[in-house]
Amino acid sequence: MWKDVTTVADMPWNPDADMAEVLITEEQLAARVAELGAQITADYAGERLLLLGVLKGAVLFLVDLARQIKLSLEIDFMAISSYGSSTKSSGIVRILKDLESSVEGQHILVVEDIVDSGLTLDYLLRSLAARGPASIKVCGLLVKERTRALSVPIAYTGFTVPDKFVVGYGLDYAERYRNLPYIGVLRPEVYRDTGRDAS
Ligand code: IMP
Ligand code: MG
Repeated sequence: MWKDVTTVADMPWNPDADMAEVLITEEQLAARVAELGAQITADYAGERLLLLGVLKGAVLFLVDLARQIKLSLEIDFMAISSYGSSTKSSGIVRILKDLESSVEGQHILVVEDIVDSGLTLDYLLRSLAARGPASIKVCGLLVKERTRALSVPIAYTGFTVPDKFVVGYGLDYAERYRNLPYIGVLRPEVYRDTGRDAS
């Protein structure tokens, strides 16, 4: 029986057509994640490590990274809402989901999808520092070029990317594209069509 195509869910999925370019391929991501895992394994040998994933964007990166770290570790998550438009952070941050246990005396490695303005991270680091961990470091899969000019401490960086809006491998635009296996730059028409702000 014929069915009317009326919703996004009914339409064929063709995300490649929405991309201006693929910035980082699936193979490049896997290779860099393996390198980061090896480096973290060496740096935290003998320590009690907590991988702290920031929901939702860091999830895909975290599950791949965790499997490349050959240490006994724990995993926990925080969810943070950063007010602003869908493509720009405002710096006003709220904790939506907190950690399940105390981090006192633990070595925390914050796993982030992307550091852009650094405002979200700055807030998170201050909140964590107040809880008495042994140490706090940040592992960001992506860091935007302009962020390097800011004084956000990032111990491990996957890739430095241009100041464009990117999606895939956990990163979303309006909650979509997280499941792409690569990192791509969205064509401006895609967010223009939906009437949202772009950076
Ligand atoms: P910041 O507070 O400006 O550093 O932004 C942090 C958060 O904004 C990230 O954890 C992402 O969720 C989101 N974000 C920033 N830039 C991008 C992007 O290019 N694509 C998708 N999400 C982004
Ligand atoms: Mg997001």
